[in-house]
Amino acid sequence: MPLARPVVLGNWKMNGLRADGLALAGRLEARAAHLSGTVGIFPPATLLAAVAQRLSRSRILVGGQDCHTAESGAFTGSVSAAMLADAGARAVIVGHSERRQGLGETDEQVHAKATQALLAGLTVVLCIGETEAEYLAGERNEVLARQLAGSLPDGATPETLVVAYEPVWAIGTGRTPSLEEIEETHAGLRRHLAGRLAGGDEVALLYGGSVKPDNAADIMAIKDVDGALVGGASLDADSFWSIYAAGGGT
Ligand code: 13P
Repeated sequence: MPLARPVVLGNWKMNGLRADGLALAGRLEARAAHLSGTVGIFPPATLLAAVAQRLSRSRILVGGQDCHTAESGAFTGSVSAAMLADAGARAVIVGHSERRQGLGETDEQVHAKATQALLAGLTVVLCIGETEAEYLAGERNEVLARQLAGSLPDGATPETLVVAYEPVWAIGTGRTPSLEEIEETHAGLRRHLAGRLAGGDEVALLYGGSVKPDNAADIMAIKDVDGALVGGASLDADSFWSIYAAGGGT
């Protein structure tokens, strides 16, 4: 079954020590007794096992923020998809711009990571997005098409794939594209996915980049926006939950 809508995922990035992470997970669990949609959190790797254990009786999905391109081996400091699954993860983010831009990850590497994730039984949250320079040059659609073509894993289904459109210039800046731009972009992504994958029209398409309680309802009301990938606002249980509620989640 495709993921229940809205799909609201919280990427904690490199934030949270054990006490804060467990407290935040506990506050979310208390609200998530009956979820109509899908709520997921992506703590740092050091907290994954503890948070997954804390939420083991909850419907909140717990995931990793990245995995390696290889199944195992001599890769000091890296974490494999199977290790994330072993620690209790059910999903993993790949292709986030903080890794594509910040660490020079290529579409080919993102594709390899997504493939490992599927092999390990994880749901892939595949991030794509243009930089500000690409946006200003009018290259957004072309960049997104290239990233999707190069990094979408083969054999993904609406149960195992989520695609998140995150314009790099909107992340952590308080700026977002206009609602019309998001609508047009998501319609293009939907067409691409429908042409590429069986069930592509049912893959959850999320918007990410400065989603806050006060803009979440307008963004998630857009056709082909099935939810949100939230950074900063996911570190506060009230803000994160009001974003989920703004998308119609109970
Ligand atoms: P912000 O919500 O802090 O802009 O971050 C978005 C993001 O990068 C989620 O992956």
